[in-house]
Amino acid sequence: MTKPDLMSSTALRAHWHVVAGSVDVSPGPHGVTLLGDDYVLWRDPEGRIVAGPDTCPHREAPLSSGTVADGCLSCPYHGWAFGGEGRCVEVPSANDGVPVPPRANLSTISVEEAYGLVWVCPGEPVAPIPGMAIDSDPNFRRINTEVKVWNVASTRMVDNFLDISHFPFVHTGTFGGAQPPTVPAIELEDLDGGYHGYRYEVVAKNPDEAQITSGSSEPEVGRVMSTGFCLPLTVRSTVAYDSGLQHILLLVSTPIDEVTSYFTFVVWRNDDFDVPGDEVIEFDKAIGEEDRVMLERLSGEMPLGQTDLVSVQADKASVEWRRRFASMLEA
Ligand code: FES
Ligand SMILES: [Fe+2]
Repeated sequence: MTKPDLMSSTALRAHWHVVAGSVDVSPGPHGVTLLGDDYVLWRDPEGRIVAGPDTCPHREAPLSSGTVADGCLSCPYHGWAFGGEGRCVEVPSANDGVPVPPRANLSTISVEEAYGLVWVCPGEPVAPIPGMAIDSDPNFRRINTEVKVWNVASTRMVDNFLDISHFPFVHTGTFGGAQPPTVPAIELEDLDGGYHGYRYEVVAKNPDEAQITSGSSEPEVGRVMSTGFCLPLTVRSTVAYDSGLQHILLLVSTPIDEVTSYFTFVVWRNDDFDVPGDEVIEFDKAIGEEDRVMLERLSGEMPLGQTDLVSVQADKASVEWRRRFASMLEA
């Protein structure tokens, strides 16, 4: 078995990872963990997010237990205050005229906001944040959801998000019931926006709870779908209904540690904006819960070697993702 060592991977640290929603840092402090390391997030006086280690350089108190006032983060222990770019701007115990020690500044990491999400990159970024051009299309609205913690390895989440053969078994309580278990031959291709994956058509059950999402009251609806990944751990799923309605999902998995991950999803829709956003995503949330319950039964990290697990034709996309992900880790 190829045991992935994600936690110490330099390659993974050179990519952007979602650790919070923009609303979670208003103004902070907000503590997060990425690849086993703890960080604190807060907004500086200009409203820009700062991401630094969640350890005070003075006596290692967790800065995420501190307070933010006027864009400065104060440590809960002796009140040292940190401003834009993590600069230490105040040591309350120091007498007038005594300078702040230069090593009191925090070593911050790169942080960006995109699509209502906070993305951090602990290393030198080698690739941009995964694209979502639709975010600037005025015909579409964006609906964000909470960032949650799932007790499963992020690799197993990506594998699941690329997999449609579990639909009739895991999603029986939502849309999966009408689907035949056979999966049509998957042809992988480069999709738009830098994603790699496949397109397919399904007839899905359209129960009452799904009708807000599908925009149809028929018992079953035809959907043209695409599912693709952007390395390392982002999956995009697009759904186009017969009615012209499009429903696009960004599925985010971030490794907190080997077996715990952040999960959130973002939805873009070209509907008439009449139905409140939280009602539109109720159905997607229920689907996500079905995946979480299944995935949290799997233990440990997912082996990444091509022959470690038995795979079939229906697993083609996840096998290709695993191959590229494993070689990215080795690079
Ligand atoms: S530990 Fe933070 S100010 Fe002392
Ligand atoms: Fe699923």
